[in-house]
Amino acid sequence: MIVLAAGKGTRMRSRRPKVLHTLAGQSLIDRVLRTSRTLVPKTITVVVGHQSELVQTALSHHDDLQFARQELQLGTAHALQQTRSALAATQGTLVVLSGDVPRLSSATLTRLLDAHEATGAAGTVLTATLKRPYGYGRIVRSQGEMVGIVEETDATREQRNIREVNGGVYAFDIEPLFDALDQISEAGPKHERYLPAIITSYRRRGLSVGTVTAADPDEIRGINSQTELAEVSSIVRQSKNEELMGAGVTIEDPSTTYIDDDVTVGPDTIIHPGVRLEGRTQVGERCELQSWVRVVDSTIEDDCIVKNCCVVTEARLASGTVVGPFAHLRPGSILEFGARVGNFVEMKQATLGRGSKANHLSYLGDATVGDRVNVGAGTITCNYDGGTKNRTTIADGAFVGSGTQLVAPVTVGQDGYVAAGSCITEDVPSGSLGVARARQENKPGWVEKKRKSE
Ligand code: UD1
Ligand code: CA
Repeated sequence: MIVLAAGKGTRMRSRRPKVLHTLAGQSLIDRVLRTSRTLVPKTITVVVGHQSELVQTALSHHDDLQFARQELQLGTAHALQQTRSALAATQGTLVVLSGDVPRLSSATLTRLLDAHEATGAAGTVLTATLKRPYGYGRIVRSQGEMVGIVEETDATREQRNIREVNGGVYAFDIEPLFDALDQISEAGPKHERYLPAIITSYRRRGLSVGTVTAADPDEIRGINSQTELAEVSSIVRQSKNEELMGAGVTIEDPSTTYIDDDVTVGPDTIIHPGVRLEGRTQVGERCELQSWVRVVDSTIEDDCIVKNCCVVTEARLASGTVVGPFAHLRPGSILEFGARVGNFVEMKQATLGRGSKANHLSYLGDATVGDRVNVGAGTITCNYDGGTKNRTTIADGAFVGSGTQLVAPVTVGQDGYVAAGSCITEDVPSGSLGVARARQENKPGWVEKKRKSE
């Protein structure tokens, strides 16, 4: 298996290598690699060139890839030639994918490979019939047989009307391939050596070439510009939304709902407009995610409500929890069964126990809060002393009055009380009341005295 990914992607007008642009949370090349793996290939070689270090680093989570370098980007045929030594000992079929064709399905790829092997052709090209074939190589046929592929820039006006295009995905017998590649000469305005030119070259040598047509033409959509990236993103998004709606999820406005491929959502969950669910997020059944909620790599169990404008990252919400509006749950936030977090509350590496509440304007960082605890408005865990992060523990049944600062490390014992406005620097034992504030003094007649002196 070969993935061509050395091109500059000039038309993206971006500094980032084209294949590293992301589509619904995954880079283009990761998508292509994921599909390629479903064929269980013996080896996968990625041809890299433009900003090859960046591409290789971005792919370092795959530990079985081989890389071939194409120092100068002299065209797709030249790119494929660079894999010759990597494949020296290999025989059989070689599948060639383009790193910028991210929506190819494994079913279509399997069909290409099966057809290639069944027909015994020397090469098989994946094609599709597009309404707008602009930019793609056109499949030229004579008496039904493919006789060549002509690139947009080299096509005659008549050829430009051909709507069957080259998908940039091929199966080849390795044996005649590399000798034929050597013979492809430069063509087109940029003097590149085109891989699709191999069709004419094969036919000249009497080698047969076949085609397989993708049932869904959108599968072969290539990404060459930001506009195409946005168009294909919207197709990917729409199909994810349709899959979820087909499984019983209510999505009020699919056009503004952004859900990454690997996200799962249970039936009867209602998703309001403008919601974004990313990465490995899992959402249970009968939840309500209100507008402008962003959830990243988090688990939300059944029957939860996340109200408007919350950001939830690497957090876990057990069933029956209610969050927001305007809450920020940072990594390591855990809400146990029935816990509630209200507006303008921030949590980080903090657990809020069963049925506990932090309803207004609080910061809970590096904290363990037990069950049935009430965290009053404006409570702050002072977890950072400038050097280290320290933990606050609040045991089951405790009541923390409003406006409290808990200077960690500190513990409030079971059923303990903290008086509102306290700055707690020492542990509050179970069952005790901790008060840590100056006593109030009232000065009778003070106002009148002040006025007289003015
Ligand atoms: C290519 C095909 C075209 C097809 C289309 C499908 C050629 C000449 N044309 O056109 O027939 O319809 O794909 O999407 O092949 N690459 C390299 N090295 C290079 C040049 C390109 O590795 O020197 C890689 C790119 O990174 C990319 C892929 O090959 O992943 C395709 O290159 P691109 O320039 O996008 O080709 P298209 O013009 O889209
Ligand atoms: Ca392309």
